[in-house]
Amino acid sequence: MPEPRFFAHRPPRLTKAEMLRRGREFYEQMNERRSVRHFAPDPVPRELIELAIVTASTAPSAAHRQPWCFVAVSEPATKRAIRLAAEAEERKFYEGGSTPAEWLEALAPLGMNWKKTYLEIAPWLVAVFAEEHAVAADGHPLPNYHVEESVGIACGFFVAAIHQMGLVTLPHTPRPMYFLSEILGRPPHQKPYVLFPVGYAAPEAQVPNLERKTLAQVSLWDPVHPAAK
Ligand SMILES: Cc1cc2nc3c(=O)[nH]c(=O)nc-3n(C[C@H](O)[C@H](O)[C@H](O)COP(=O)(O)O)c2cc1C
Repeated sequence: MPEPRFFAHRPPRLTKAEMLRRGREFYEQMNERRSVRHFAPDPVPRELIELAIVTASTAPSAAHRQPWCFVAVSEPATKRAIRLAAEAEERKFYEGGSTPAEWLEALAPLGMNWKKTYLEIAPWLVAVFAEEHAVAADGHPLPNYHVEESVGIACGFFVAAIHQMGLVTLPHTPRPMYFLSEILGRPPHQKPYVLFPVGYAAPEAQVPNLERKTLAQVSLWDPVHPAAK
């Protein structure tokens, strides 16, 4: 068992005013983020995608396993194969008759359908795979823990990084997504988790007019005993 090694990590305390300023600024930036489904074909430098991936990889993960693999694709033939396979699944979802009516109703205001032309137009597709287990240097499997939660948090960091750079994305989750494993040649312990098209918003891009829940709708404060004043 290796000995734990520690080093000091004591971020300097800020004034309340500075904390509020930073917190508000970050909230305002994040509140500007939207899922965009209309991309410009303009190329995006690979370095920006690399930055978003290393930012995602700073996310906390259970037992620090970092159970994720980000597979970035810019090459047109692979993007086309992904689009066609995604559309085949999406078509079954929207028109196959087995999707619950409630689910389709929830999607209707978003104006979504089975066509995913943006998967070919966006300059990058970043497929995220969740690693059910790690592989030790000698090839034997090492268990991972809380994989879904860890990968979900990393994806949140990825989305925030893309937004911060002035690019746009959306989490795309056709079900099932095993075509991604096949097309991208991933091993069985890597499960497809989400697909992020990334690029610049098209000049004509529009997003549905959504309202976000208020603080009161998404939070409770000391619900058992009131806090001491
Ligand atoms: C886990 C997850 C899966 C999603 N899957 C899809 C999808 O398959 N297709 C799509 O167009 N949007 C998808 N979205 C985007 C949501 O529709 C979008 O986040 C939501 O409508 C709120 O809009 P906003 O991101 O602009 O705030 C997904 C979002 C999440 C978090």
